[in-house]
Amino acid sequence: MSKRFYITTAIDYVNGQPHLGHAYEKVIADVIARTHRSFGEEVFFLTGTDEHGQKVQQAAHAEGKSPQEYCDALAAKFQALAAVLNVSNDDFVRTTQPRHKAVVAAMLNKLHAQGDIYKAPYRGWYSWKEETFLTDKDRRPDGTFDPFWGDVKELVEENWYFRMGQHQSWLIGYIEANPSFVQPDYRRNEVLGFLKSQKLEDLCISRPKARLNWGIPLPFDPDYVNYVWFDALTNYYSIPVALGDAGAAAPLGDYYQGPTANLQPALWPADIHVIGKDIVKFHAVYWPIMLKAAGVPLPKQVLVHGWWQKDGAKMSKTTGNVVDPIAVVNEWGVDAFRYYVVRELAIGPDGNWTDAGFQARYHAELANGLGNLVNRSLSMLQRYRGGVVPPRSDELAAEINPFSQTVKTSLAQHQLQPALQTIWAIVNRANQFVDQTAPFKLAKDPAQAARLDAVLYNLAETCRLLAVLLHPFLPETAQKMYTQLGLAGAPDRLTLAAWGGLEPGHRIGEPAPLFPRRDAPRH
Ligand code: MSP
Repeated sequence: MSKRFYITTAIDYVNGQPHLGHAYEKVIADVIARTHRSFGEEVFFLTGTDEHGQKVQQAAHAEGKSPQEYCDALAAKFQALAAVLNVSNDDFVRTTQPRHKAVVAAMLNKLHAQGDIYKAPYRGWYSWKEETFLTDKDRRPDGTFDPFWGDVKELVEENWYFRMGQHQSWLIGYIEANPSFVQPDYRRNEVLGFLKSQKLEDLCISRPKARLNWGIPLPFDPDYVNYVWFDALTNYYSIPVALGDAGAAAPLGDYYQGPTANLQPALWPADIHVIGKDIVKFHAVYWPIMLKAAGVPLPKQVLVHGWWQKDGAKMSKTTGNVVDPIAVVNEWGVDAFRYYVVRELAIGPDGNWTDAGFQARYHAELANGLGNLVNRSLSMLQRYRGGVVPPRSDELAAEINPFSQTVKTSLAQHQLQPALQTIWAIVNRANQFVDQTAPFKLAKDPAQAARLDAVLYNLAETCRLLAVLLHPFLPETAQKMYTQLGLAGAPDRLTLAAWGGLEPGHRIGEPAPLFPRRDAPRH
């Protein structure tokens, strides 16, 4: 079986409610996943939740629930968010699932048997709130620790460590030789800067059960659980193994004792891990070293997006400065949300959400731009030609075809924002064409019937092409456009984006506004 395009998102912590940042990441990964399907590839898209660790244990305790009950409730919310956003994930991994835990245990056992994991005492300043040891670098000028860290106490304990240092120069060479491994380029440079300026410490991968029991037990030491990042990163690999990807499972040999579904997909190595800028080090340093040590091939790319602020400030539950993606979708529709986040922000830099900016794009680009074009094109075709597509005319083809080609090129390179900009060049050209040709005037003059036919064909065909090009971004809207055009099936193959697909004599469906104007916003 040929290898599928395998794309993942970060798995979300379940110690809080889903927010704009989680939603954004899932949407961009979904657009890339749908793009590859539109190119005719088989795709496997994985998202999920990261459920172990101190914070979850504490959050569950605070609600009087068992950690598992607490995780079940939150995981359901993250799954619901994905559904609301029309995210086309093929599976949803939860790190508390037996199928995932079995792969983590196999990885740990293999690395332990090879001598890559060892036990050593550690003395340090420990932040209970942030679950991390602090160093002198974390002290303020007066020698104290910031209140952010909460209660900080000196702690001595034995823990298990994963040897990373010996892989440092290999990793530098690997990242230099494979420029697409970390993207955008400035993120790769940050990683190289870090690797070249600091000695890589071994990674502490355990917590004593006495202090934290909500974790995957270390298979070779019952007094410890695996600490979260080793567990969390492994999700990308555990699902292919558990689904029966033989190539993925091979390096684990007999260490893997878990379930194997008989699906036998060829998934590993992952093609893209989509993640936010705060977790680059884990994905571009720890993860490749873990895989290298275990003899597992490396993923092809870590694609790093920026962070959203709201009204120029960090989003924060305590100040109420948050964007609730579900509320936005309920009020404005799923495609309005998907459009705004992808159009507003390229994959890389940070962005700033404002309600005014969102509403401005909704009205100018969705309602007055795309919505108006489709509605007036199809309404005029209904009114002047009884909904029957006139003879073919290629008047706009020479202008639109190069745009379509540019969109496909951008999509192939995962340049999502530029692809949308080019799609809107088509929308704007077609709206201008309506204004220039004034079909409502042509309709009054029987001598202009052939001209009106030509104008109406060009507009309807442009709408059809737009549905195809928009499908990865706005799947619901693209489907509505197809239905309004009276076309069966889905606009889900980019091969359909060739001029002239609309057959003369075909009867279109009923036009209806795609993005109703909202003159008195409720916000
Ligand atoms: N559980 C870890 C990831 C483990 S991956 C093996 C984690 N979870 S998280 O819930 O804190 O973040 C999940 C993703 O959302 C991360 O990629 C993070 O960068 C992203 N975002 C969190 N807040 C964000 C914004 N404000 N804006 C954009 N993305 C943000 O980290």
